[in-house]
Amino acid sequence: MVRIIASRQAVLTVRLASGDLVVTVRNIRRHGRFVKARFPLMAGNWKMHGDHLQAVAQVQKLASALSAKDFDCSEVAVLPPFTSLRGVQTLVDGDKLRIAYGAQDLSPHDSGAYTGEVSGPMLAELGCRYVLAGHFEVRQSGQHVAYTLGQLDGSLDGVPAPAVASLVIAYEPVWAIGTGEVATAEDAQEAASAIRSQISVVHGPETAGSVRILYGGSVKVSNIAPIMAQPDVDGALVGGASLDAGQFAQICRYRELSVS
Ligand code: 13P
Repeated sequence: MVRIIASRQAVLTVRLASGDLVVTVRNIRRHGRFVKARFPLMAGNWKMHGDHLQAVAQVQKLASALSAKDFDCSEVAVLPPFTSLRGVQTLVDGDKLRIAYGAQDLSPHDSGAYTGEVSGPMLAELGCRYVLAGHFEVRQSGQHVAYTLGQLDGSLDGVPAPAVASLVIAYEPVWAIGTGEVATAEDAQEAASAIRSQISVVHGPETAGSVRILYGGSVKVSNIAPIMAQPDVDGALVGGASLDAGQFAQICRYRELSVS
């Protein structure tokens, strides 16, 4: 079951109601620069870890572990819990850090009587560049690429091509999330390529050539290099390993790691 959520302005997002092997990370930046097409994106999904003070300390550590050259090679983003976003914003703005940040979910509504929900416009006001949509830790899933493509079609149905082009799509095999089991680089490429081909069929080759596709699921320093060497994999959505600033910085510097 797939639900499409359309909201005003740039906040047009997609939520999978169940069985999400495909997670969309929507670019919700309203102001400022957008990164160039297919610029690698290394995003740390911190899930429900750490308070706002720890989040600020983590971002400080990450920023000091990365050089200007690292930021020239990859976009680095962190997705902390909602409660940390304001602290992270203050740090990033105050110290002019080149780290992007975003949230882990958003409401389908812009505002209103929706207890506990947080809207896209609220996140955009906090300077969030990204928001995860459709990432559920507890999920049912299919086993095949065909299942993933079915989800993709449902998710993107009715979304205009320019909006699709600015999406980031993360392929996360459910068995690889938090298990230490990682897809082979070849399997990650097969899924990413199938997703890109499907987008090409439905939304055109130009859109398919722009959309960034990430791999997620037990990404670590030891496995990131061969995955990033795949032509259709444009980055990683990193869970557990992104909680350690040193490890995440090394993952962001995958170019310096051996592919074999
Ligand atoms: P792990 O990297 O901890 O497996 O988490 C993957 C994930 O769910 C990222 O969104």
